[in-house]
Amino acid sequence: MTDSPPTGPAAVRLRHATIGYGDVAVVRDVDLTVGTGEAVAVLGSNGSGKTTLARGLLGLANVLGGEVDVLGAPVGGLRERGRVGYVPQRHSISGAVPATVREVVGVGRLARLGLLRRLRPADRTAVTEAVAAVGLADRLDDPVASLSGGQQRRVLVARALAADPELLIMDEPTAGVDAANQEALAGVLARISATGTTLIVVTHETAPLAGVLSRAIVVDHGLVAYDGPLEQAAAHEEPGLHHHHPPGRRPSGYRQDQPTVTTGPRRRGDEEH
Ligand SMILES: Nc1ncnc2c1ncn2[C@@H]1O[C@H](COP(=O)(O)OP(=O)(O)O)[C@@H](O)[C@H]1O
Ligand SMILES: [Mg+2]
Repeated sequence: MTDSPPTGPAAVRLRHATIGYGDVAVVRDVDLTVGTGEAVAVLGSNGSGKTTLARGLLGLANVLGGEVDVLGAPVGGLRERGRVGYVPQRHSISGAVPATVREVVGVGRLARLGLLRRLRPADRTAVTEAVAAVGLADRLDDPVASLSGGQQRRVLVARALAADPELLIMDEPTAGVDAANQEALAGVLARISATGTTLIVVTHETAPLAGVLSRAIVVDHGLVAYDGPLEQAAAHEEPGLHHHHPPGRRPSGYRQDQPTVTTGPRRRGDEEH
């Protein structure tokens, strides 16, 4: 969906990167280069650090060591808004203000324009196209709050698409989405990948996206345990799903659907092994 194919530096480049919250490291010593136009899955069991890694690429988690470059600049230093799209793990669309699908997706388009601009006809078209791409054209003027959870996820995907990003980072976009709509989403991702947009997708369900994502990394206890073809990643991931938390050491007190910095006492030992 980019106007001209981006060239030059890697989309993402991490060197010995350590990322966390406050001064607590969650993801450690990551070396990772994602080339422009690549489509990469981020796999790993719950709590392994996938979301933290994604948030580190967005400047939403702290880079505690090493280097994190995104679109050729140190993370957080991007001058151009809208070049990086993000679909967070859980939506928080339905706040106090009732908003329609069109309005929420329009905000995504505004992110590209700058907040003081107004949407022009081409922008309105981009909004309706993005909503159509996720199969919600008939819900454009419905309040987002009236949609199902899976439909709201697709609104967030549309919001990211509307900004026409060069790099699109999605955190579990298929979670809570039924099979038919997972397929539809895979089709959308295949199309935007074909236009040269770089994709980084955190997911548990690789099957629906196997045709789109060719490379995978597996995060295990905050370390990148595998980086290679998607087909071979499952072998590296599966054993990790079951042996992570010995009795009595299960991480607690943090909910996956509330990615806010916790201020209470933390158990620093949880991530160490
Ligand atoms: N906002 C936060 N504040 C403090 N610690 C966090 C926060 N988010 C995640 N963590 C810690 O980082 C660990 C990895 O979490 P996360 O990156 O969400 O893993 P995943 O996405 O792989 O399930 C968690 O076990 C938790 O201890
Ligand atoms: Mg996560």
